[in-house]
Amino acid sequence: MHTVVETDVLIVGSGPAGASAALALSTYGVRNMVVTRYASLADTPRAHITNQRTMEVLRDLGVEDEVIAKATPQHLMGNTTFCTSLAGEELGRVRSWGNDPLVQAAHELASPTRMCDMPQHLMEPVLVNAAIARGTDFRFSTVYKSFVQDKAGVTATVEDRLRGDEYTIRAKYLIGADGGRSKVAEDAGLPMGGQMGVAGSINIVFDADLSKYTAHRPSTLYWVLAPGATVGGIGAGLVRCVRPWNEWLIVWGYDVSAGAPDLTEEYALSVVRQLVGDDEIPVTIKSSSAWTVNEMYAETYANGRVFCAGDAVHRHPPSNGLGSNTSIQDSYNLAWKLKLVLDGVASPSLLDTYTVERAPVGKQIVTRANKSIAETAPIFEALDGLSPQTPEQLWANIAARKDATEAAAKQRAALREAIAFKVYEFNAHGVDLNQRYASDAVVPDGTPDPAYTRDPELHHRPTSRPGAKLPHAWITSGTRTLSTLDTVGKGRFTLLTGIGGEAWVRAAEAQPLDIATVVIGPGQEYEDPYGDWADLSEISDGGALLVRPDGYVAFRHAGAAEDAERSLTQALRRILGHG
Ligand code: FDA
Repeated sequence: MHTVVETDVLIVGSGPAGASAALALSTYGVRNMVVTRYASLADTPRAHITNQRTMEVLRDLGVEDEVIAKATPQHLMGNTTFCTSLAGEELGRVRSWGNDPLVQAAHELASPTRMCDMPQHLMEPVLVNAAIARGTDFRFSTVYKSFVQDKAGVTATVEDRLRGDEYTIRAKYLIGADGGRSKVAEDAGLPMGGQMGVAGSINIVFDADLSKYTAHRPSTLYWVLAPGATVGGIGAGLVRCVRPWNEWLIVWGYDVSAGAPDLTEEYALSVVRQLVGDDEIPVTIKSSSAWTVNEMYAETYANGRVFCAGDAVHRHPPSNGLGSNTSIQDSYNLAWKLKLVLDGVASPSLLDTYTVERAPVGKQIVTRANKSIAETAPIFEALDGLSPQTPEQLWANIAARKDATEAAAKQRAALREAIAFKVYEFNAHGVDLNQRYASDAVVPDGTPDPAYTRDPELHHRPTSRPGAKLPHAWITSGTRTLSTLDTVGKGRFTLLTGIGGEAWVRAAEAQPLDIATVVIGPGQEYEDPYGDWADLSEISDGGALLVRPDGYVAFRHAGAAEDAERSLTQALRRILGHG
């Protein structure tokens, strides 16, 4: 039997990229279908760190509360620990993921949301359930095989693994969210730079009550410096908390040139015993799998009507926790553009801005994640432990830091400095938040990008300059307190102005597409009682910001305009690809 099924957007894959694409499209009322290879969603924890930009996406898509209810909260994530084993000696800690008091304040000031630890096997059902509830046609056990495209659409051939036959799906657009071995990206001929298989790693998922070693220093990550820990892997051995404090995932390296070890239960247990360091604790191994550290990114995310998102176009190690975050944000960037093009509101050229905006982010995060692996080496160097001849020598080097000698004092200082430097992996607030888009979907206002006065990888720098995410400020509406970010999104453009901005409101109302209007000021629907918005908006009361459905500023006018309607119309024509 050969059937042809039709949809508007076909999504291949139900990981963070595919599931969030489906959720956003269904939320915007776009007909979409997901096909996914397996009979279930992710069955292992995989990606987990969920940063504020992603939480803002989830907030806009209406699933933030559900994620918070299921995730490990931020305050339990923060004591990234370096040790010889969980039961062994502790070498130092980094206050991480916004738990340093100064960074915590920066997190509170940057966003209405908090980061959290949401393992992928818990995240995917939230996204997929909500997507299906809003209309996504979801097909498990369905494998993408190939596509052909023409001027009007894409025809994909898929295999139904239950029936054992193939059928075709006709869609106007195809999203390849099929992960690090993406066949869609390959078939679309998307050029990839970089290298696969840089190092070998093993994930071991296990149950064990480790509260004795963790509850007093709650953390998502415990790094183990032990013999063999510099072979392959992601910088050192890692014991990662999946659920506090009895579900865990170990990442342990292997020599990629020698191939992965035989992943027997006995082998997995021996690694767990080494990294935990307490043989008395009962351990249940749940799964083990081998994977490789990759350093690859695509220069182009699309070919015609085919778009790729997530690991399909950026492949990197878990360092900095950027995997599912970047994947979800890719899809969020693409979904509203597809909606407007499918509705005939925007020209198809709007879709070209997807690559222009997201490919630089992909390249940046691949580079950052791999750099973070290399930045673990100085911790071993401080202990003369990069390549000790014997385990005894490594333990002796580690013990030497306790001596009352000048050499030991130097060693202690070097160790402290090397551990503290890991903020670039565990507290890189700027990497999480400072994306700036420069594309035809953003109208420059002639101002230069405001200079960073602090390290842009570590510190968030809010600005309303076109191409940046709308700054968050707490405002009020009657008795309700809400974020400026809560006034935008929901698939719509939003125009923000203040007292004296009536011409902008009229201009927005005169446009052929639905634009929400937000007037902030005394006696208006929204008020700014703390004055935060006045400090952050970078426009005068009579000025205007036009914000895209993804919360990024598309157009800014610093003051009242002579001809607001003409200015706004021109800006929108450019943004929507008509001018
Ligand atoms: P993702 O790989 O999540 O999803 C791809 C989807 O496409 C899956 O649903 C798959 O079944 C489907 N698919 C693939 N080919 C298909 C085809 N031909 N037809 C139909 N469907 C197809 N990250 C991290 O930060 N910490 C970690 O510990 C781990 N561990 C980890 C373990 C394993 C086993 C994997 C595979 C990945 C990780 N990761 C990780 C990486 C992290 O999971 C990754 O960055 C994100 O899941 C990326 O999300 P995507 O949606 O892009 O791909």
